Amino acid sequence: MAIEQTLSIIKPDAVALNRIGDILARFERAGLQIIAARMLQLTPAQVAEFYSVHKDRPFYPTLVEFMASAPVMAQVLQGEDAVKKNRDLMGATNPRKASPGTIRYDISRDVPEAEMHRNAVHGSDSAETARAEIAFFFKAGEVLPRGR
Ligand code: CMP
Repeated sequence: MAIEQTLSIIKPDAVALNRIGDILARFERAGLQIIAARMLQLTPAQVAEFYSVHKDRPFYPTLVEFMASAPVMAQVLQGEDAVKKNRDLMGATNPRKASPGTIRYDISRDVPEAEMHRNAVHGSDSAETARAEIAFFFKAGEVLPRGR
């Protein structure tokens, strides 16, 4: 398995619930290293660009408003098979369908179906997407891989 990097975002709902430390600890327990981290509040224009692949989907305006509504925490995770490992830790996009023990189940399982954009975390869906998403949040010198 290859050592990969992936982008993770702790979304405004999970930040507001004070779950940043809980989520970061899950990444570390799973053997992923946090090699960059940044808390910021995105502008609607930044969110619109980040999620532009979804621009024609009905949920896009709500997603943009939600992601720009309050601070998020963005981090780069590195480790073996990091993209899939992170997505396994996150669980299904719809938190109501996520498996027990996943981040989305544990934090967001009670959100109404109509609010499934409030799903606690984002993670890159491929190594290629990860490269673009990491560059969206971090300059080269801000990503700091380290020896084991
Ligand atoms: P994320 O993994 O960040 O990728 C796109 C986001 O859009 C997703 O998590 C959800 O927050 C949101 N999303 C995806 N599908 C839907 C949907 N059917 N209804 C509402 N929001 C959605």
